[in-house]
Amino acid sequence: MAVRIIIGAQWGDEGKGKIVDLLSKESNYVVRYQGGANAGHTLKFDDKTIVLHLIPSGMFNGDSKCIIGNGVVIDPIALVEEIKEVEQLVDIDLHDRLFISSSAHVILPYHKVLDQVKEKSRGSDAIGTTGRGIGPAYVSKVSRVGIRMGDLLNPELLEEKIRKNLADINNALKHVYNEPELNADEMVSQLKPAIDTVKKYICNTTELLHNAVEMNEPILLEGAQGSLLDVDHGTYPYVTSSSPTAGGACTGSGVPPLAITHSLGITKAYCTRVGNGPFPTELDDSDGEKLRKNGQEFGATTGRPRRCGWLDLIALKYAVRLNGMNELALTKLDVMDDFETIKVCTGYELDGETIDHYPTETDQVERLKPIYKTFSGWQRSTRDISSYDELPENARTYIEFIEEFIGVDFTIVSTGPKRSETIVR
Ligand code: GDP
Ligand code: IMO
Ligand code: MG
Repeated sequence: MAVRIIIGAQWGDEGKGKIVDLLSKESNYVVRYQGGANAGHTLKFDDKTIVLHLIPSGMFNGDSKCIIGNGVVIDPIALVEEIKEVEQLVDIDLHDRLFISSSAHVILPYHKVLDQVKEKSRGSDAIGTTGRGIGPAYVSKVSRVGIRMGDLLNPELLEEKIRKNLADINNALKHVYNEPELNADEMVSQLKPAIDTVKKYICNTTELLHNAVEMNEPILLEGAQGSLLDVDHGTYPYVTSSSPTAGGACTGSGVPPLAITHSLGITKAYCTRVGNGPFPTELDDSDGEKLRKNGQEFGATTGRPRRCGWLDLIALKYAVRLNGMNELALTKLDVMDDFETIKVCTGYELDGETIDHYPTETDQVERLKPIYKTFSGWQRSTRDISSYDELPENARTYIEFIEEFIGVDFTIVSTGPKRSETIVR
C-alpha cells in the first residue's frame, strides 16, 4: 500500500491542499508533519471553500483519520477556530477523525509576540514571516524549554512551565526589545477554553502510524511550505524554521523512511514566493502582474500579494533531487491560458559563468541571472479539460519539455482550483 509524501517543490502555495484533498479519498491516514498555522491550504469542493492552517487536508474526501504529527507546532487557540470552521462547513464528527500528537509543540502567545518583535528589530533584513510564532516555537523546542501538547493535560505543570519561560522572555522583551512584558495569569486563562476543546484529540499518534504501517494501510504525509523554504536546504535565512523536505516527513510523524513508497512533488506552472529572500525568475513587469491577477496570487494566510515569476527548472530539479520525488503534480496550468509567450528558466549565469545547479549560498542565489527558453502559449481555456490528450498542443509541448528536463512525469495536471478540475494520468 502507498505511503506517499506530498511536498511543495517551490516556495509554498503550490496547491498542496487541493492535491491532498483529491488523493485523501484513497487514504486511511492524512498526516501533517511540520510547520504550523503559517500554512494556508485551500480546498474547493461542492461550491465550498476552506483554508486549512493546521488540520490536515484529508477531512472532506472520504473518511481518513487526520493526524497533526509531532513535528507540527500548534497554536491551540488557532486550532479551536479551525475546528469550528470545519464543523460549520460540513456536518462532521471530528471525534474519530482528528488525532493530535502529544509530542507536538505548543505555540504560546509569547511565541507570536517574539516573532513580531524580532521581525521589527531586523528592520530591512526582516524575513517577512507570517507572524504566527513559528520560528520562536521551534527555538523553544530545540532549546528544550518547549511545552508539548501532552503538557496541556496537566494544568499545574503547564502553569509552572509557562511562568518559568515567561521570566526569561519578559527579561528579553523588557531589556532587549524595549517592549511591554507579558502576564502569565492572563496567558493561562486565555488558553484554558482552547485546552478544554482540544484535549480530547491528544494522543500517541506515532503508535497509531506504526500500526498503520504494519497493517499496510495507505497513508498520505502532507507537507506544508515548500522545499525552497526548508531551514537546511532553502535560501537561509529567508526560510521557515522546519523541514518541509522528505526527511522532515519521517521525523515529524514517526513513519520510518523505508515505509515511504512515493514522493510526490507539487509545482505550479510558474513560480511564486511570499515574504523576503531571493527569487531568480521573479517578474517585475506586466507578465508578473498578469500571473498574480489570473492566479489570484494573494497569501491564503496573510493576504499578502505573492511575488510571481516564470517556472525555474533548475530550482525544480533541485527540489526533485532533495526529496527523491518520483511523481510530480503540475498545478495552475490554466493561469497561463491567455499568455502569448511563456518562458522557463533552464540555467543560470552566475558572475559571468553559466551554471546548471542551484547554489547553496544565498548571496549567490541573489546574483543569479536566469537563462530562458521561450514557448508559444496556447491561448485557449484549459478549464474543464479532464483528459491529457484534450489539452492544447502547445500546453502539452510545455508540459513534456518540463518532464524531459526534470526526468520525472506529471501524474496529475491541475487546471482549476476545484477537485473536479484535475487530470489524473
Ligand atoms: P497550498 O498552500 O500549497 O495548499 O496552496 P494555497 O492554497 O496556499 O494556494 C493555492 C491556490 O491556488 C489556492 O487558492 C487554490 O484554490 C488555487 N489552486 C490550486 N490548484 C489550482 C489550479 O490548478 N488552478 C487555479 N486557477 N487555481 C488553483
Ligand atoms: P503553505 O503551506 C508560502 C514563508 C513566509 C516567510 C517565511 C518564514 O501554505 O505553502 P514563517 O512564518 O514560517 O516563519 O515565515 O516562510 N511561508 C510561506 N510561504 N506558503 C506557506 O505555507 C508559508 N509558510 C511560511 O512568507 O517568507
Ligand atoms: Mg498556502
